[in-house]
Amino acid sequence: MKNIVILISGRGSNMQAIVRAAEAERWPCRIAAVISNRADAEGLAYAAARGIPTAVVPSKAYSSRDDFDAALRQEIDGFQPDLVVLAGFMRILTPPFVEHYSGRMLNIHPSLLPSFPGLATHRQALAAGVKVHGATVHFVTAELDHGPVVAQAAVPVLPGDSEESLAERVLAEEHRIYPLAVRWFVERRLRIDQGVVHIDHPAAPLPETERNR
Ligand code: GAR
Repeated sequence: MKNIVILISGRGSNMQAIVRAAEAERWPCRIAAVISNRADAEGLAYAAARGIPTAVVPSKAYSSRDDFDAALRQEIDGFQPDLVVLAGFMRILTPPFVEHYSGRMLNIHPSLLPSFPGLATHRQALAAGVKVHGATVHFVTAELDHGPVVAQAAVPVLPGDSEESLAERVLAEEHRIYPLAVRWFVERRLRIDQGVVHIDHPAAPLPETERNR
């Protein structure tokens, strides 16, 4: 049984999508905790209502990134995670923190990386005039919004789109691909080789005609 710790900073809709899929599809894992750097993160109430332990490590209470990351790491490790899932966790993490969770920390970013790292990705996409946009699930490395790509989904950018309408279209895809990527990790199907993620798919069942031979 794998332990998953999910980090959020706000609404937590990706966290909710993962929790729902884990329950509905009976993944071999336990959502061990949902942790936020903000006491007012809306997603905390959802987790608590589902009986998932929650914790807050308030980033404002720490004067340096190092101190905050050390406190956060201590809190996370208390839940013995096999996987740490960043789900709208709006903090830049220090290299030692990232290194500690190397190969076992995933993030979702609302763009088709490597395009549009950083903030305001939908605004960036509209300003660049791209015709497709999307979301990326990736393993976290020390470089912000980089790291081996696990899954991506593209959506069209439509004439007349606003940041909000584009964000909504992308978010629907986030809720589809993030649970998928986490499930692949839990099922041990992800392999990283020279910065590239390979997904082992289970052998497809033999067609009926072949099975009876
Ligand atoms: C999501 O769109 C996620 O991709 C983004 O924040 C939103 C959180 O929504 N993350 C980033 O921008 C990280 N760089 P949620 O709290 O409802 O899941």
